[in-house]
Amino acid sequence: MTKNNSITLGITGASGAFYAINLLKHLVNYYQNVHVVISDAGRIVLATEMDLTLPESPKKTQIALTEYCQTSSEIISVYSKENWFSPIASGSAAPKQMVICPASMGCISAIATGASNTLMERAADVVLKERGQLILLPREMPYSTIHLRNLLTLSEAGATIMPASPGFYNRPKNLDDLANFVSARVLNHLKIENEIVSPWGYKNLKDKNVDDKNKEDNQ
Ligand SMILES: Cc1cc2nc3c(=O)[nH]c(=O)nc-3n(C[C@H](O)[C@H](O)[C@H](O)COP(=O)(O)O)c2cc1C
Repeated sequence: MTKNNSITLGITGASGAFYAINLLKHLVNYYQNVHVVISDAGRIVLATEMDLTLPESPKKTQIALTEYCQTSSEIISVYSKENWFSPIASGSAAPKQMVICPASMGCISAIATGASNTLMERAADVVLKERGQLILLPREMPYSTIHLRNLLTLSEAGATIMPASPGFYNRPKNLDDLANFVSARVLNHLKIENEIVSPWGYKNLKDKNVDDKNKEDNQ
């Protein structure tokens, strides 16, 4: 498989840490570099929801996540929340794609106002200013008018708002099925062909590709 170059994954303190780890496990299969930034609250939620207590040091967190994802040591890079010298802090070096999963309402608000007070916020700001692809998976229930306004602002600024709302038509049997559905949709938006979930109306991706090719040839 030819791997894409690099992407940033932000993990904040909204509920849904399971989605973040599921997505990370998939991203390492498709990208050569996955830059990871985790907020303090994100670490608390990972420990609360998944019993995944990450060490404080970014280097040790990097090793822990690499082991957790069973991937090779050069793929995941983890940065502290104020590492302004990391590649994701500058438009000259940052990947053009970033996903924040899950995205807290606090983080959504900070990005919507351009606060850039943490590396997470700065990295998202950089992707927007560089006209890259910012995908946000917000999580709250219900959304207040303030949340909705901030989400609209971000959508208007070019971000893709993709709340983790898995469909049930594939009859999910467990948490992995639900999270795989969400990760597959995110990967679709990142323009990564994947067979994590069958495409709508098809048994597998191969059948869909043959069908798409036939349609193209008949045009
Ligand atoms: C277990 C737990 C679950 C939380 N769930 C949510 C949530 O679903 N959405 C949200 O916006 N905040 C949630 N919070 C609150 C955020 O963690 C808090 O607002 C924090 O300041 C967000 O900071 P961050 O954006 O830097 O991660 C939760 C906190 C905890 C401890």
